[in-house]
Amino acid sequence: MPGVSLVGSGSACLTVPLTNADLSQRVDTSDEWILTRTGIRQRHIAAAADSLASLAAEAARHALTMAELGAEEVDLILLATSTPDDLFGTACQVQAALGATRAVAFDLTAACSGFVFALVTAAQYIRTGVFKHVVVIGADVLSRWTNWDDRTTCVLFGDGAGAVVLRAADRDRLLGFELCSDGTLNHCLNLAYRAQAAPLVGDVAVQQGSFAPITMNGREVYKFAINRVPEVIEKALFRASLTTAEIDWLVLHQANQRILDAVASRLNVAPERVVSNMDRHGNTSAASIPIALDEAVRAGQIKSGDVVATAGFGAGLTWGAAIVQWG
Ligand code: COA
Repeated sequence: MPGVSLVGSGSACLTVPLTNADLSQRVDTSDEWILTRTGIRQRHIAAAADSLASLAAEAARHALTMAELGAEEVDLILLATSTPDDLFGTACQVQAALGATRAVAFDLTAACSGFVFALVTAAQYIRTGVFKHVVVIGADVLSRWTNWDDRTTCVLFGDGAGAVVLRAADRDRLLGFELCSDGTLNHCLNLAYRAQAAPLVGDVAVQQGSFAPITMNGREVYKFAINRVPEVIEKALFRASLTTAEIDWLVLHQANQRILDAVASRLNVAPERVVSNMDRHGNTSAASIPIALDEAVRAGQIKSGDVVATAGFGAGLTWGAAIVQWG
């Protein structure tokens, strides 16, 4: 059975920062409150010229360059996003922008777990021998759906895109994974469709509404994360026949520095082994893990052969972990 190797990473460069001080001009909050509760100093907002597709394509281009792979060699593009440009799917626009003429492309939605779910999904196509080269992208523009007058949510989120390139290899570097969902907790974090009935003809009415802003029970999500994430990482490690002591880097979904600290402490992973870019990016949903991974690889922290434990968690509710060996 072919294995999976991770041979390139990339992220989009967003240039419009939104600081905590900026936000405090809009809602009743402060840099001190946001920093101590979340670890966030600033986040980035997509510019008017940016689309989800353009950000995703930029991240993918950087990842392909690192992998020294031409776009025409890509077999599959998997785009994890909850904020598509087009509800029919945005991955095909990314395929066109890249010139990945041979690739099939589709979207996958699992909110902030999207990147881990997409990585594991992509790996199955490689393991079965169907595809050789896959680009997995996590990209979100949550600023489109954030209620900028709700201080309990708007301080958390930012926009971004990150990507990795997977290649078929003799030795499998996806060492173990575990994916979970619990729809009974769906109400804790939503970006839900709100229908409005509009009479059409006779007794027939159509339901044409729009998506409501993000709503969240912060305390419930916090409790969920600090309990379920260590558990799911331990299950993925068990499948990989590894222990927490063998984790070189913990690359968690960047939701809140307090969550990163609590998960690391429960797993007994030293703080210097925890990758965090919370202060600069905030929570970029499906983009957060590949951006953190890419920054750590380019900074020379994550090196070839390092064992990286990644875990995503968020709306659905969904959560999942993948243990990979970089390079
Ligand atoms: N600025 C200032 N005060 C704020 C505020 C803000 N941006 N947001 C909330 N507050 C206030 C609340 O109104 C509350 O005031 P009160 O005591 O007078 O009612 C107080 O701060 C405490 O609110 P609380 O919700 O208990 O804070 P918290 O310590 O739980 O922190 C979160 C809030 C959102 C930072 C925290 O719950 C969290 O990170 N949860 C996880 C969210 C998450 O990661 N979601 C995405 C998952 S993918």
